[in-house]
Amino acid sequence: MEAGFSSKNKPIGFFDSGVGGLSVLKKAIDLMPQENYIYFGDSKNAPYGVREVEDIKNLTFKAIEILLSKGSKAIVVACNTATSAAVDDLRCKYKEVPIIGIEPALKPAVSLYKKGKILIMGTPITLAEKKFNNLVAKCGPNLEIVPIPCPGLVEMIERGIFEGKDINDYLKDKFKTYISEDISSIVLGCTHYPFIKKEIISIFGAGIPVIDGSKGTAKELKRRLTEKHMVNDSGKKGRVEILNSSEESRIIDLSYRLLEI
Ligand code: DGL
Repeated sequence: MEAGFSSKNKPIGFFDSGVGGLSVLKKAIDLMPQENYIYFGDSKNAPYGVREVEDIKNLTFKAIEILLSKGSKAIVVACNTATSAAVDDLRCKYKEVPIIGIEPALKPAVSLYKKGKILIMGTPITLAEKKFNNLVAKCGPNLEIVPIPCPGLVEMIERGIFEGKDINDYLKDKFKTYISEDISSIVLGCTHYPFIKKEIISIFGAGIPVIDGSKGTAKELKRRLTEKHMVNDSGKKGRVEILNSSEESRIIDLSYRLLEI
């Protein structure tokens, strides 16, 4: 069915456990500046990546209800953890709404492969879930793909720390066994991590590709909207509204700042 003019003007709802999904929203705005966007970050309940799967599912459903109640025409689950825990159930419940999830960008990492290990950083839940294991089995069953769970990193980024000693010490310790090995690429399997990309590059050097799924997700969003005739063709620049479950006003300030980085 062809969508009407008004439904094309409705916002696209973006969700993440906190500020991480803004790294994906940025790419969507670059690709489709004419769209209206509404972003909901659940910073009050972050991090999700160390919670029980059922708990993550419940929190994700609550967040998506908020975005749908604001008239979202499509949903982007801009959180690898929430995608692995809840995207299948979301798609079952909201059959009429395009729901796009994000997963670790293993496909591009495999297509760039030369030699050595592919390191995948992510939350403990993302890297333990069935979805991730299926992805590895599909994309690179014979490659050395090493999951690197990074508990504690999301908390630092939520506090607005993107560089400096704490992040650098954390990363050095995480990667100490890999620093002298052949590394093919590093995949950022959490939407918070692109904000600390500079620090990751400083550990391994600029020669090792650091890959994230934000651009691919934005492209997939565009493809799905186009297929459903839902692209906003008003020709005007769209609006971006940011909501957050946290009562701390600094989170909203931080969110708008991250969109500018
Ligand atoms: N940005 C989320 C992700 O992509 C972080 C999850 C968390 O809150 O631990 O996985």
